[in-house]
Amino acid sequence: MKLTSVELRKKWIEFFRERGHTPISSASLIPENDPTVLFTTAGMHPLVPYLLGQPHPEGKRLCDAQKCVRTGDIDDVGDSSHCTFFEMLGNWSLGDYFKKEMVPWSYEFLTEVLKIAPDRLAVTVFEGDADCPRDDETAELWHKCGIKKENIFYLGKKHNWWGPAGQTGPCGPDTEMFFDTGKPKCCDACSPACDCGKYVEIWNDVFMQFNKNADGSFSPLKQKNVDTGMGLERVLMNVHGLKSVYDTDVFAPIVDGIKSRADSRVTDAPTDDDIRAVRVVADHIRTSTFILGDERGVVPSNVDQGYILRRLLRRAIRFGTTVGLKKGDYSQIADIVVGLYKDVYPELDAARDKIKSEIDAEEERFTKTLENGIKEFEKLCRFLQDKVIPGKSAFRLYDTYGFPLEMTVEMARERGFTVDVEGFEKKFEEHKNLSHAGAEQRFKGGLADTGELTARLHTATHLLHRALKTVLNDESVNQRGSNITPERLRFDFSFGRAMTPEEVKAVEDKVNAAIAADVPVVCEEMTVEQAKAAGAVGLFTSKYGEKVKVYTMGEFSKEICGGPHAARTGELGHFRIVKEQSSSAGVRRIKAVLE
Ligand code: ALA
Repeated sequence: MKLTSVELRKKWIEFFRERGHTPISSASLIPENDPTVLFTTAGMHPLVPYLLGQPHPEGKRLCDAQKCVRTGDIDDVGDSSHCTFFEMLGNWSLGDYFKKEMVPWSYEFLTEVLKIAPDRLAVTVFEGDADCPRDDETAELWHKCGIKKENIFYLGKKHNWWGPAGQTGPCGPDTEMFFDTGKPKCCDACSPACDCGKYVEIWNDVFMQFNKNADGSFSPLKQKNVDTGMGLERVLMNVHGLKSVYDTDVFAPIVDGIKSRADSRVTDAPTDDDIRAVRVVADHIRTSTFILGDERGVVPSNVDQGYILRRLLRRAIRFGTTVGLKKGDYSQIADIVVGLYKDVYPELDAARDKIKSEIDAEEERFTKTLENGIKEFEKLCRFLQDKVIPGKSAFRLYDTYGFPLEMTVEMARERGFTVDVEGFEKKFEEHKNLSHAGAEQRFKGGLADTGELTARLHTATHLLHRALKTVLNDESVNQRGSNITPERLRFDFSFGRAMTPEEVKAVEDKVNAAIAADVPVVCEEMTVEQAKAAGAVGLFTSKYGEKVKVYTMGEFSKEICGGPHAARTGELGHFRIVKEQSSSAGVRRIKAVLE
């Protein structure tokens, strides 16, 4: 019998539960308070504070299936295994067990649960450098389990070092596990390091012992952790000997839904381009559905996550058009995605209508600008002698016609033109500064930056959240996003209109009153039900019975959160709102500072 995705998630959790791990829920795809990355890119990402040494309410051994988005390889989507969204099965030791437990467990899961023949496995270990010695211990452990010496490869930092997820944070040497497809070696030196396709990576065990600092140096962590990640889609593809991830049960119904709406040629005699286009649509609509339907879901826009979402949707439409998809098809495909995942990720079902209407609306906007933009693009091509689209023209296509840069590059490539990407980026930066959007820059730091300034701003965010609910006299005012740099906080919340100057002042006064009261910031651990009953606000994404941290500041705030925070509100200084503006439909944005 074939292992389904549902069974694989279940077996993963069971395996680690039997070994003392507590299963935790997938965190949101949109990281909170981490300005260094736009999306959660790995299972470890939401756990950074705990990898750095804060105690986790569920203990030292955790496991989960985490929703992840990585858009760095977007150009590779359409091949057999690259996806912009994927699920990462993960398990963690937070300063508890280490290599001698993890390596045999990995071997056992691969050979006994996934039933991969030991000879079909190859592993890599860190070859050592000035930062960290050669990992003979791990190689020895693999060999003892039953991996032949010729299937154990030593590689350097480029291949066998993982992290950090942003610019700074926990990282370390890793050991990666590969499925040997059985293809012949491409050359004598053939190893998991080459991309001839013989070896496909399926799992990564990181022995997290270092923190990468902003200056590029590594310092030892307080505790030694294990952080592992297995790509669910890739594992399903490999254990079933399928040609691509699109043939697995998490994709097949989406692909079928696309084919049934596409030109009949796509089912009867598809070209390579048709196959790629169908895969791009399947991947991008799946990712867009998860971004729109996330607990902290965003909508298409021209900045941050909203811009990535816009790019994904517009790229899906562009590719979909080549196989004959029509208006309205994309939201129907998203509907299939919701149906497929709703039992595992119920947030998608709850947001089904929003997902569909946002996709339809973006399609509408895109179609309108596209027609005009294509005319402009063609005109441009006729006049250019050197076949290079200037940066300022690419920027005009972006700014006026909504062409994502990538689309201009692709359209140019189809006509044998190139684009001055650097020139585009320069224009883009200038525009950002002009529109005073400079504060949107990515700052160094992030979750790993547990500095006092960010901790204070984070505490102020809790006070702001409560003050908004009180002053606007509306309990449905809820956090929709938070982004903190050492300079300022940015807080997005659901509210349908601009605040009056009086309301802004009243909110400032409330926060400053809480600061003047100088109450302690108290952290308690409780189940998610107890937190709800105690009147805590925050995202209730955890499963029944799961433990969470609740931070209480006297009468002023009670909120579920992972920290870190100031010890007392009195440390915060003076709170001032710098700006209150629209963020997207129904969402307002506040920027504030402590001075
Ligand atoms: N954090 C590790 C990875 O993403 C497990 O590969």
